[in-house]
Amino acid sequence: MPDKKKIMEKISNLSSIPTLPSIIVQITSLLQSPKTSAEELGRAIASDQALAAKVLKLVNSAFYGFPGRISTITHAIVILGFSTIKNVVLTASILDIFKKKSDNITDFDIEQFWMHSIACGAAAKSIARFTDNKKKEECFIAGLIHDVGKILLYQYLPELFMKTYSFSIQNKLLFYQSELQLFKITHQEIGGTLAERWNLPQMLQQAIKYHHAPQPAQECFSTTSIVHCADILVRALDFGYGGDDQLPNISETAWKSLNMDSIQTSTLFDMISNEIDRATAFIQLF
Ligand SMILES: [Fe+2]
Ligand SMILES: [Fe+2]
Repeated sequence: MPDKKKIMEKISNLSSIPTLPSIIVQITSLLQSPKTSAEELGRAIASDQALAAKVLKLVNSAFYGFPGRISTITHAIVILGFSTIKNVVLTASILDIFKKKSDNITDFDIEQFWMHSIACGAAAKSIARFTDNKKKEECFIAGLIHDVGKILLYQYLPELFMKTYSFSIQNKLLFYQSELQLFKITHQEIGGTLAERWNLPQMLQQAIKYHHAPQPAQECFSTTSIVHCADILVRALDFGYGGDDQLPNISETAWKSLNMDSIQTSTLFDMISNEIDRATAFIQLF
């Protein structure tokens, strides 16, 4: 059985590991300058035709719910604002990376796993709204990619992925508990390494690294806690499939920090279900 060191070596040597397209890097730097105009940003996005088409498809989807048709990127930027567009671009690129299916795995329902990721994004966004967290869109992305380490295993180390999956089912363990027992490394750590390599914002890196135990997330504790709770709530509500049959314990510190006790559970569940319905518009992109 490969150990932690070997797995990390293997991951860092994978030349085919997806890189975030250079357009993201370019757009992020454009967005950092207060002088960037909607036209300039629009030109940068439009230079990548496939990306531009996806952005338009996404902004015209039920997820954003705009009544009229948005037909140019510049129009989309004016309507949605710079920060939402940045998140739309990031989401479109990430979904692109996710959609690759493994040729070696046939007996794992990856579509249900995508559904878990989308549902977690939608639930994180609902919780953010409920708890007055200003970073709703970022919470959506963080929820969407919290298990990116599992995606990486599934696509690039399918044997390890399947071994972990069967071990979890047989021994009634959570996926990360099996990873720890089998290889002493978890998908949180693997995903965190990838997020670092992609230079994703700190908030996303922390949410990926600590979504099963948010305490070390420090300055990103509240968004990490949101993703932690969202992951467990969508499992409890049976949306999609997270890769094992167990329900993790919710961190009391995380739950309390979000003041979730003051929230009517049924209202929260309704809101999450509605948000998930809207987010399934994303599936069109797969
Ligand atoms: Fe996870
Ligand atoms: Fe998960």
